[in-house]
Amino acid sequence: MAKVKIIGEQPLHGAINISGAKNSALPILAAAVLLDGESIISNVPQLTDITTMVRMLRSINILAEQSGGKIRIVNKKQVKHLIPYELVTKMRASFFIAGPILAKVGMVRVPMPGGCAIGSRPVDIHLKGFQALGAVVSLEHGFIEIRCKKLKGGQVNFPFPSVGATENIMMAATLAEGVTTIANAAREPEIVDLADLLNEAGANISGAGSSTIVITGVSALHGVKHAVIPDRIEAGTMLLAGLITRGQITVNNVRPADISALLSVLSETGARFEIENNSITAALGARWRGAQVVTQPYPGFPTDMQAQLMAYLALAEGASTVRETIFENRFMHIGELQRMGARIRAEERTAIIEGVAGLSGAEVKATDLRAGAALWLAGLAAQGETTIYGVEHIERGYEKLTEKLSALGARIKRIN
Ligand code: EPU
Repeated sequence: MAKVKIIGEQPLHGAINISGAKNSALPILAAAVLLDGESIISNVPQLTDITTMVRMLRSINILAEQSGGKIRIVNKKQVKHLIPYELVTKMRASFFIAGPILAKVGMVRVPMPGGCAIGSRPVDIHLKGFQALGAVVSLEHGFIEIRCKKLKGGQVNFPFPSVGATENIMMAATLAEGVTTIANAAREPEIVDLADLLNEAGANISGAGSSTIVITGVSALHGVKHAVIPDRIEAGTMLLAGLITRGQITVNNVRPADISALLSVLSETGARFEIENNSITAALGARWRGAQVVTQPYPGFPTDMQAQLMAYLALAEGASTVRETIFENRFMHIGELQRMGARIRAEERTAIIEGVAGLSGAEVKATDLRAGAALWLAGLAAQGETTIYGVEHIERGYEKLTEKLSALGARIKRIN
């Protein structure tokens, strides 16, 4: 297990470029199944999850070459309909490729994705969506098999605006016969990025970014060149790194509107921002105040920032509450933050945080990606040395993290 050691209390200063969004790049790579010929996807972050998706494309007969932040994809052969077990169990987003394969090949066999550290994460909303397009779903021997020679457009009503289900159904519907309407669709910026890519490839999608998405099926999609949008979660986490160390960081290559829910919470705590077109600079006066936060689907406060915000609120003046409404088990960081001196307790899905004046370095473990990010933020602010085990989790979502933080003045070292 790799680990990082951080010597805390070093104020971070300077500017950094934010990488492309992991959660946009993953469905966009899955969409490559639908695009005939050659495509070039740029601004792709170099992360283990991206490597897993590239391996997935290769496993189903699609050529994918990764060179730095660019991925060249050539889709000319018959796509296979079986997704390898090993890849689905490694990364739940592997399931996002089911819709494109179903639309392209007429059937897909995919191992049932299990739960993960943050919750049980079923795929029932995806499956009901495929059924609404005329597919037949069967479950046996741990596999989900979905069949439909030719998908037919239909009305899809989501009980909850699932990000992955919106992406899966939107992709599948691009090649369906007729018109599909997704009601109560997710509205995340990553959905819009995916719809933009598909429209550039010849699809007919309107309404992405709103709760109703309308897709008129077309007969084929062609290759495209597309640049992935910036990672709003990396941007938010880096801004917190500047604030929690009482430094001043500028994040470049961001889209400020994508993180307005975070900026408004941070403003409440006393942070001040200078916002230009594609950059944000954040700074604080003395100590910051607590806040009351509830995670919600976009445009609400993102669950993917909840753990990191909690590390920051652990050092606020006064009390805070953070309610997690998206995942049932996304508080694994609380126990680890407590080891560092944080005063946090969970009452069901609400964390109650009594701000403390300082944290102290400790040995802690990252249980998942964002919990791990919360720990490195806490480590940057804490007195003394923090060792974080399970760095692999953090590296699923933050490109070149150690290098970026070192460039801002952090004393951080990765140890294999
Ligand atoms: N859900 C169901 N049934 C479904 C689908 C989802 O009950 O069929 C539930 C989930 O169990 C969860 C909630 O709905 O409790 C939200 O799930 P959603 O489908 O919206 O999430 P996702 O598509 O699996 C994406 C991101 C996550 C992010 C969530 C919510 C990717 C690759 N992953 O997951 O990112 O937390 O949306 O915004 O886009 C991360 O980056 O750390 C991460 C976990």
